[in-house]
Amino acid sequence: MTPEKIKKMVSQLTLEEKASLCSGKDVWNTKAIKRMDIPSVMVSDGPHGLRKQPEDGDHLGMLDSIKAVCFPAGCAIASSFSRDTAKLLGETLANECQAENISTILGPAMNIKRSPLCGRNFEYLSEDPLVSSEIARAYVSAVQSKNIGTSPKHFLANNQEYRRMTSDSIVDERTLREIYLASFEGMVKNAKPWTIMNSYNKLNGTYLCESEAMLTDVLRNEWGFDGYVMTDWGAMNDRVKSLKAGCELEMPGGNTTNDLEIVEAVRSGDLDEAVLDQAVERILTIIYRFEENRDKNISYTLDQDHEVARQLAEESIVLLKNDDGILPLSASQKIAYIGQYAKKPRFQGGGSSHINSHKVESALSVADEKTISYAAGYNDATEAIDEKMQAEAVKLAAESDVAVLFVGLPDSFESEGYDRKHLKMPANQVALIEAVTAVQKNIVVVLHNGSAIEMPWIDKVQAVLEVYLGGQAVGGATANILFGNVNPSGRLAETFPLRLQDTPAYLTFGGEKDQSVYSEGVFVGYRYYNSKDLPVLFPFGHGLSYSTFEYSNMTVSKNKLNDSERVSISVDVKNTSNIAGKEVIQLYVSPINSRLIRPAKELRAFDKIHLEAGETKTVRFELDKRAFAYWEVAIHDWHVEDLDYKISFGKSALDTIMSEVIHVTPNQLLPKVYDLNSTIGEIMADQNGKVILEQAMGSVMAGNADAATVAEQGPNDMMNAEMFAAIMEGMPLRQLLSFVPGVEKASLQQLVDALNQ
Ligand code: BGC
Repeated sequence: MTPEKIKKMVSQLTLEEKASLCSGKDVWNTKAIKRMDIPSVMVSDGPHGLRKQPEDGDHLGMLDSIKAVCFPAGCAIASSFSRDTAKLLGETLANECQAENISTILGPAMNIKRSPLCGRNFEYLSEDPLVSSEIARAYVSAVQSKNIGTSPKHFLANNQEYRRMTSDSIVDERTLREIYLASFEGMVKNAKPWTIMNSYNKLNGTYLCESEAMLTDVLRNEWGFDGYVMTDWGAMNDRVKSLKAGCELEMPGGNTTNDLEIVEAVRSGDLDEAVLDQAVERILTIIYRFEENRDKNISYTLDQDHEVARQLAEESIVLLKNDDGILPLSASQKIAYIGQYAKKPRFQGGGSSHINSHKVESALSVADEKTISYAAGYNDATEAIDEKMQAEAVKLAAESDVAVLFVGLPDSFESEGYDRKHLKMPANQVALIEAVTAVQKNIVVVLHNGSAIEMPWIDKVQAVLEVYLGGQAVGGATANILFGNVNPSGRLAETFPLRLQDTPAYLTFGGEKDQSVYSEGVFVGYRYYNSKDLPVLFPFGHGLSYSTFEYSNMTVSKNKLNDSERVSISVDVKNTSNIAGKEVIQLYVSPINSRLIRPAKELRAFDKIHLEAGETKTVRFELDKRAFAYWEVAIHDWHVEDLDYKISFGKSALDTIMSEVIHVTPNQLLPKVYDLNSTIGEIMADQNGKVILEQAMGSVMAGNADAATVAEQGPNDMMNAEMFAAIMEGMPLRQLLSFVPGVEKASLQQLVDALNQ
């Protein structure tokens, strides 16, 4: 429907009707206005499968929804490092939505994994904003290409479950821009989501639903968002304030109190009716975008989409360790599958994303009984060791050529609604691994978990396969990788630390009462571990393949550039093995000798490519200003430091393969704000400042014998030139009055004026 028609329609609605459209009819549907033929449309979770419920459903995942296909959760999809994988998921979900008459799918969930403790990390994509934003962008574009809306969530800084409805995330401007907003930015600008879901929490003192700064200034005015904002379920605080701030739809609906507040506010003059009209226009635009593009011919079958779920899981599984090439297994080996998850995999997380799966495929259900035997080994409903179960498993392991241990985290360990307290696996599962390692050398561990765990047993096992919460077809996908029918190609989109104490937000995560201070700043995930040179269990970006790849011929199009120019970087990647495989090419940028507190390196581009055995492909990336920039609070904008930057290809955030150094100069200089308290170091770091200061000091020396003596006395036997320079670095200009005889305040002020020009 054209904007004119929408406007006309809104002009024909009564004040009460308009206010009523700003909240849902019930848990999942918008309101209809029969008189005007305005339809009611359904929204539904999301993000990795349909959770279509009846009108009186719930949003906590406790009541049943229709039978649906559970695809791999966000933690897994992001590990594919593949936009095509996210696209396939998006298209498949959109078809299901068309067939089920769902207008908007509530996802993707794209909050940054600030700490591995967040209970909802299994749904979130990454600790890195580029990976998060790019995977989400591909998903959103794919869903919307089939005329179904998305609702990327939860905007913003909702990185813990503890007191998520009232907690106040205290985040400084630069961290917000470089990490938390950056996760949404590229997705919003490039994929134009139909809606956005604001989070429950406050940000720097303001509930997100009331944050004009985020919902209107950043989202709409800066990034060009043109859909509508809906609240998370029950996240509405002050209805009138929210409407003014740019939050259009309150969900769930059913209670008309807030609609009446809108009516009263317009009548009392507190709310300009034009604000309400605009909100209704935005909501109706999206409702009709769906209604008018409904495709009733689209159908799907659960079984076909189950095959898609398997394909997605195969792209996402990460081979973390594979000593002596123990994997892939061979059908001629005597293999023991040990652990309950071989028979009953943990494949999804708890809460609003919980899917009523139409079938679940376990690794055991697709196994060849002739070569594979099974023992449960533990019961995942408890942490207590079941001696009998464990003994049976150990016996079976001892009698086999290889033991494949299916372990991970039980449902109760991670869910929406609460955070984890530690990174440990249940005691009985750890004990089982230890017991099996005592009788069997050939051990493969298959992990089913939604976020990073500690692995105290890592040195005693030969292989580890991280299958995450891989969706309902995870068993088939796992088997295909174990036996080499599929070559693993996933990479970790989050760091696996050695221990909880090493994590960046260890001291402050969760906060105190309702305040959560993000004191680690921009040092989230590998940005922290790399900068501290802290050993980790498995780094961000890590993942093995059955193929081997060789990188050569790195080229950069320019060694010196201005920040308005782009630089293109290429590299040849060869599959040096005799099987086809996929490689994830990762490009990192590191500022050299920055004067600011910046991460040692940041991922600035990535791609996943398929290479036949022996094949070589050239991969090319283009970097622009943003790849080198940081958020400068003095100008509230991105800025590039005049520096050398190292550009490197890496197998992970830790493992650099090759690099080149280029110099980038900013086009725009920062406004100068020198005063008498500016330090000599600051001034000397500014090209122009250095010239002015040296000239000024030169003339002081020339006209003043005493001053010259002081200057000569600078570096001497007691203090070498380096020490002198280090001390001068932090010395404020005004101190020259105290230590350099003959210097006058007026001449210093003249110097400051010259510096500021
Ligand atoms: C969750 C959202 C979800 C909504 C509806 C909320 O509790 O935070 O992610 O979309 O419920 O189920």
